Amino acid sequence: MTERRKSIQNWFGSILERRISAALLFCASSILLAGCTGVQSSLEPAGREAKRIADIFWLMTAGAFIIWLAVIILALWAVRAPPEGHTLRRTRLIIVGGGAVVPTVVLTALLIYGLAPIPALVAPAPAGSLKIEVSGEQWWWRVRYLPSSGQAVVLANEIRLPVGEPVEFRLESPDVIHSFWIPSLAGKVDMIPGRVTRLVLKPTKTGVFRGACAEYCGTSHALMAFSVVVMNRDEFDRWLVDQARPASTPAESLAARGQELFLANGCNACHSVRGTSAAGVIGPDLTHVGSRLSVAAGTLPNEPAAFRQWIGHTAAVKPGVLMPSFHMLPPDELEALAAYLKGLQ
Ligand code: CUA
Repeated sequence: MTERRKSIQNWFGSILERRISAALLFCASSILLAGCTGVQSSLEPAGREAKRIADIFWLMTAGAFIIWLAVIILALWAVRAPPEGHTLRRTRLIIVGGGAVVPTVVLTALLIYGLAPIPALVAPAPAGSLKIEVSGEQWWWRVRYLPSSGQAVVLANEIRLPVGEPVEFRLESPDVIHSFWIPSLAGKVDMIPGRVTRLVLKPTKTGVFRGACAEYCGTSHALMAFSVVVMNRDEFDRWLVDQARPASTPAESLAARGQELFLANGCNACHSVRGTSAAGVIGPDLTHVGSRLSVAAGTLPNEPAAFRQWIGHTAAVKPGVLMPSFHMLPPDELEALAAYLKGLQ
């Protein structure tokens, strides 16, 4: 093989290597950046508090990059500079200046910038703001809207908010520590047994977002999510009025049979369906369960097949769950129960 041929082969080889490296880098960054958008992303804020947190993140990232770049440039310079370039005076200047003064000034500035928004983030909501109590259960969310007058409206695993208005969440837990987190709207706040913690947030964009538990709380911690729907004020008012209403009587015979089975199998011992004799408080309130966006706290889509799967195989869908599996029920009874629950709009 001639020298010329070898050098051409090497040249092609190096081009190919570079192309492969670039393609790999592109794939890796696409995968990483794909996690920065969507219904559950701190980096695509849809609320005042999340925006502040995202701003802090980007400034800290930029600060870290500039410091990293400066260190690399200094390290390269230190290696390549001729030995006579390292005079005692210059060496001292670099050690004291670059090693003590610059980090102290830069880190203090970043710390002040990072801490400054905290008082605003923990300030109480203005008087008259919407108040919502959320309790972290194993593994679902008990939600109570507290209107300024009248009775609380109880639901589960779904939160709807009016856009552009501050909302105060009162967070609690009866047994273990959970953490309430809607990444698109605000930071996370722990739900601690025996205490009430607070979170104030103001959504700035309408849309459907996803909330999750951000503190390991047991076997099905990862199956403890909830939907957050931010809507216009009049839409929200209509929705809350609907949620406050008792359940409608099943119109179809299949759903009516489902209601009988619901009571006959003791579902009412744990679940409430307002307007019926079911008044259990251990499990989620099911008065309007059919209108929610998910079943089993963000685990399954809200459709009859999912209700059948959930009721017949609770432990397989959500390991460790308190609700027993009703696998002994024949398919036609599961179908009737699913029709009843899906009909609770
Ligand atoms: Cu609740 Cu993790």
